Amino acid sequence: MRRRDKRRDESEAWALFRRAPAVRLASTTADGAPVLRTVHGVVHRGAVLLHSAVKGEKIGCLGRQAVIAADEVLAEVPSSWLDPERACPATTLYRSAMAHGRLVERKEGQAKAEAMQALMERFQPQGGHRPFGDGFYEKALRSIRVIALEVERVEAKSALGHGKPETWRRAVAEGLWESGQLRGLRAMIDDGCWRFDGPAGVELMPVMGPAELAEAVSLLTPMYWNEHIDEERIARAQLASPAWVGARHDGHVVATARAISDGAKLAYVMDVAVAEPWRGKGVGRAVMELLLRHPAVRACRRVELHTKTAGPFYATLDFQRPVDPAWRQTLRLSRA
Ligand SMILES: CC(C)(COP(=O)(O)OP(=O)(O)OC[C@H]1O[C@@H](n2cnc3c(N)ncnc32)[C@H](O)[C@@H]1OP(=O)(O)O)[C@@H](O)C(=O)NCCC(=O)NCCS
Repeated sequence: MRRRDKRRDESEAWALFRRAPAVRLASTTADGAPVLRTVHGVVHRGAVLLHSAVKGEKIGCLGRQAVIAADEVLAEVPSSWLDPERACPATTLYRSAMAHGRLVERKEGQAKAEAMQALMERFQPQGGHRPFGDGFYEKALRSIRVIALEVERVEAKSALGHGKPETWRRAVAEGLWESGQLRGLRAMIDDGCWRFDGPAGVELMPVMGPAELAEAVSLLTPMYWNEHIDEERIARAQLASPAWVGARHDGHVVATARAISDGAKLAYVMDVAVAEPWRGKGVGRAVMELLLRHPAVRACRRVELHTKTAGPFYATLDFQRPVDPAWRQTLRLSRA
């Protein structure tokens, strides 16, 4: 029963292979010796392609059954979050994928060139090299071999709380937030294993990321402080901030806030916005409270921001204007 809870859709396995920085290949040689190698693999037309030297261990596996595996360890869960005494609940949150099949060689020049182009596009997406396929690499291609795992079956698993009781999922989600294991927390949210409810039916997002980027940028672009800043730069600033939180409704971004932080002395809050239809419902306050409790912000002695228009809003969160007139546009929340 537990095992079935962890099993995920095939598409998740393919997605994990596509984003894995490296995959592991397991097979055997003709004399039955086990082979386990970490390799660069690319998903291409239903196969996983890898390259190899002309001779070597991988070549010895050609024609044989093999497994390619990828995994992501997302968080460590100590037993104490779930039980004050027993060690048994200690666990790891992860995603994993396995593809089973047979290793065959792609010998033909065009197939080799296509495979190498796919590998380059995966691992050097910025380009910066002459593409394969026009004969330029003919000699180079003779000194490598391309191996394909022709996939017969894929499996995906994730251990993120599927099938666990709500008390487990709550304790783990809160523990991840408190301990700053935000990748694991985001994975639980993405997999529907946890949701932080906010005011007015919104979902509070303790970790925003690429999935929210376009909508967050649309919300921020018209704001007066971004008047001379292009969308691409706004986007980069969002992604580079150690603390980026927000709120969603029906999966769409309705609020966003971020902070840059040194994690100790100072955090600086920027780009706070609530979509117009959602203002005045407590969403801005909830998002700011979340940001102030963010692992990158909560330990800072001072949290600062600049605002022309929203002073009264921040005053409700205990931000105060410094007395020195030289700082009159700066609001500061002082901590002991
Ligand atoms: C400022 C902003 C983020 C506030 O978000 P919001 O969701 O409307 O605010 P909330 O409903 O959570 O209000 C929280 C509290 O602040 C008060 N408040 C909110 N906006 C206020 C304003 N403009 N003036 C005075 N008080 C305000 C509310 O009355 C409420 O007080 P209460 O808790 O005592 O009832 C939102 O209005 C916004 O996005 N404005 C445009 C962008 C902007 O100015 N961002 C800040 C730039 S630094």
